[in-house]
Amino acid sequence: MAVIPQPDSSARISDPATVPGAVPQAAQGARPAPRLLRKVLSLADFEAHARRRLPRPIFGYVSGAVEDHLSARDNREAFDAYGFKPRVLTGAVARDQSVTLFGKRYSSPFGLAPMGLSALTAYRGDIVLAEAAQRAGIPAIMSGSSLIRLEEVMERAPGTWFQAYLPGDPAQIDALIDRVARAGVQTLVITVDTPVSANRENNVRAGFSTPLRPSLRLAWDGLSHPRWLVGTFLRTLVRHGMPHFENNYATRGAPILSSKVLRDLSERAYLNWEHIAKIRRRWDGPMIIKGILDARDAAIARRHGMDGIIVSNHGGRQLDGAASPVHVLPEIAEAARGMTVMMDSGVRRGTHVAKALALGAQCVFIGRPFNYAAAVAGPAGVDHAISLLRQEIDRDMGMLGLSSLQQLDASYLVPVRPLPGRMPAAPAAGD
Ligand SMILES: Cc1cc2nc3c(=O)[nH]c(=O)nc-3n(C[C@H](O)[C@H](O)[C@H](O)COP(=O)(O)O)c2cc1C
Repeated sequence: MAVIPQPDSSARISDPATVPGAVPQAAQGARPAPRLLRKVLSLADFEAHARRRLPRPIFGYVSGAVEDHLSARDNREAFDAYGFKPRVLTGAVARDQSVTLFGKRYSSPFGLAPMGLSALTAYRGDIVLAEAAQRAGIPAIMSGSSLIRLEEVMERAPGTWFQAYLPGDPAQIDALIDRVARAGVQTLVITVDTPVSANRENNVRAGFSTPLRPSLRLAWDGLSHPRWLVGTFLRTLVRHGMPHFENNYATRGAPILSSKVLRDLSERAYLNWEHIAKIRRRWDGPMIIKGILDARDAAIARRHGMDGIIVSNHGGRQLDGAASPVHVLPEIAEAARGMTVMMDSGVRRGTHVAKALALGAQCVFIGRPFNYAAAVAGPAGVDHAISLLRQEIDRDMGMLGLSSLQQLDASYLVPVRPLPGRMPAAPAAGD
C-alpha cells in the first residue's frame, strides 16, 4: 500500500514563526504592536491610515505621481494582464522563499525601495526602515535624498544598500562615492531615471516643496495633524535639530524647512555611461543601476560591468507614460545575461511578486507601503508590512505548488488580457 506523506502541521501559515524567514516575535521589540495594525490586512491598507496621520503636503509627496498618473495606473494594472497556471499535487509542504543576491542570502524575494525624506514621514524613518529590513533579513536601499546621515544608518543597519543621485560635478561624484565607501556600504545603487526634474503638479497642488516654505497654510497643515507634529516633526527638531539633506553630496545640503534657501538640484541630463564607467573603476562592491526600462540599456549596463539593474519607472513619479516594468521585464531579463535583474513600481501583493519573478526578476522592491507603515506605526508597522507580504508569498507558493522560488518561470503564467506587443519595425530609410 502506498504511503501518503502527511502534511507537516508545523508549516501552517497561521503560525508566523513557521513562515520561512518570519520575523520572530522577540525581534519585534518589547512594545506591543499598535491596535490599528489589526485592521491592516494588506499592504494597500496602510495608505488610508497614512492619509489621516500625515499633513496634506507630506502625504501628497509620498502618494503622488507625475502629471496624469498614467504610469502609476499602469503599474497597478499591468500585473492583471497575467493569470497563473498553478501546478497541483506537488507536495510543496516546505516552502523556501529565500533568494541569493550578490552572494548573500535574503529570507524573502523583496526589499525596501529607496525613498527620499523618509525621516519627515516617520520619526527617524531611514533608520526605522533599514533596521526592520535587517531584522527580517531582506534588503533595504537608503535614498541619497535622505535627512539622516548615511554613516548613522550604516552603523545601525550595516547591510543597508545605498542609492546615490549623482551630483553635477565629477569631483563631487568622486567625493560622494568615497564617502559612501568609507561609511561601510557594500552595495551601491545609482538612480538614472531623473535626468531632469519631474513635473509633479501634484506636489504644487498639495503645497509640497523642498525645502518646505513656512506659511500659514503649512502651519495649519501641521497643527491639524498633532500626532505627526509632536511625534515626528517636533520630536526630531528637539532631539536632532532641523533636518537637512545629508547624503546628496559628500557634504551637508539644504535644510528641510526654509523661507530662503534653494536646494542645489544640479542638472543631471549631462550624465552618461562614462560617468558610470568611472565609478565602476572606483567601486569594488556590487553596483546596480536603477531606472532601466529598455533592453538595450540593460545590455549597455552589462557591458559596463554592472552587477545588477532595477527595472523601474520610479513608481510613476518621473516620465508619465513610462511603461510599467512588468511589460518590459521579459526582454530585459533576456538582455541581462547573468546580471541580477530586480524590479519595482506597483508591487503590492505576493501574487505580484510571483508574477515578477516568473517574468525574469530575481527580487522586487516596494516603496510607498513601507513609507506609510513607518509613518503610522514606526518599527512595528514596518515589521507588520514585511510579515504580511511574506505570508502572502508563502501562501501563493503553496497555491502554485512551489517549494522553492527557483522553480518559478514564465510557464506558470498565461496572458489573460492583450499584452502590449512589439512595436512595428521602423521603416527602412528610403521607404
Ligand atoms: C516618497 C518617495 C520618495 C522616493 N525617493 C526616491 C529616491 O530618493 N531615490 C530613488 O531612486 N527612488 C525614489 N523613489 C522611487 C522608489 O525607489 C521606487 O522606485 C518606487 O516607489 C516604487 O514604486 P511603489 O511606490 O509603487 O512601490 C521614491 C518614491 C517615493 C514614493
